[in-house]
Amino acid sequence: MNRESPAGPPPDGRRPRGYLSCEKLSHRFANGVLGLCDVSLHLPFDELVVVTGLNGAGKSLLARHLVGLVRPSSGRVLLNGIDIRRVEGRLHQHVGMVFQDAEHQIIGQTVREDLGFGPIHHGMPRIEVDARVEWMIRHIGLEDRADADPHTLSGGELRRLAVAGVVITGAQYVILDEPFSSLDPSGVRDVLDVMLNLRGQGCGIMVITHELEKVLAHADRLVILHRGRVEEDGHPESALEQLPRFELRRPPGSLEDMTWRE
Ligand SMILES: Nc1ncnc2c1ncn2[C@@H]1O[C@H](COP(=O)(O)OP(=O)(O)O)[C@@H](O)[C@H]1O
Ligand SMILES: [Mg+2]
Repeated sequence: MNRESPAGPPPDGRRPRGYLSCEKLSHRFANGVLGLCDVSLHLPFDELVVVTGLNGAGKSLLARHLVGLVRPSSGRVLLNGIDIRRVEGRLHQHVGMVFQDAEHQIIGQTVREDLGFGPIHHGMPRIEVDARVEWMIRHIGLEDRADADPHTLSGGELRRLAVAGVVITGAQYVILDEPFSSLDPSGVRDVLDVMLNLRGQGCGIMVITHELEKVLAHADRLVILHRGRVEEDGHPESALEQLPRFELRRPPGSLEDMTWRE
């Protein structure tokens, strides 16, 4: 993979550090069910946080709040200390999300067109868009597929494209919801590579997954969400031992082996 600089903000790790946070975030559905309850998290743009929990724990709901897709019943989400309701139109330029079904996020007829869509939509000059797209295509290793229909890509290629489509607009924080689901081992490695490369460039990452054995070795923190509440938020080494309390499986072996990266 190519590590040279793209046109645009230098991915040199010297970006101003930002953070996303939420304070006492609660979400009550119309039927009275409490999807999230008093969730407070601090998410610096230079950390890789893994969020895990049982099905229905509220992980995807939390992600949707963090990117401003839903309004909380109470509490708030902040970007660098400012309520996202006050930065809304521009929030996606800072915080992006890769949905579990990444293919629904792809809109271009070709890989190249898809990557250009976001920047063009944000009013970036064409010459800069073209430079960024070409850099990004090389960065995610899709040079050979640049003119291919995205729907012909493999699962791993498609996820890489979806991640690239989010960060090409300049997002400094990326939330990936179940990024390993239905990927073969090489697809998992591809996604890990792109993710860890981004982190190396000063981008914050949240990985929502129950497949801890694939990624936890790279995490700065592990958050356990249980019935809409943050029950654990700490160093992966200690948080790991709490998993069985929440009916979750602790992967066997030591933390440093919990990666599928070669
Ligand atoms: N429209 C809705 N009305 C009531 N409950 C809902 C609605 N949408 C989702 N839920 C519930 O919210 C909870 C959290 O869902 P979700 O965030 O998708 O869980 P996870 O991603 O952790 O599997 C689940 O228990 C789900 O059943
Ligand atoms: Mg989910």
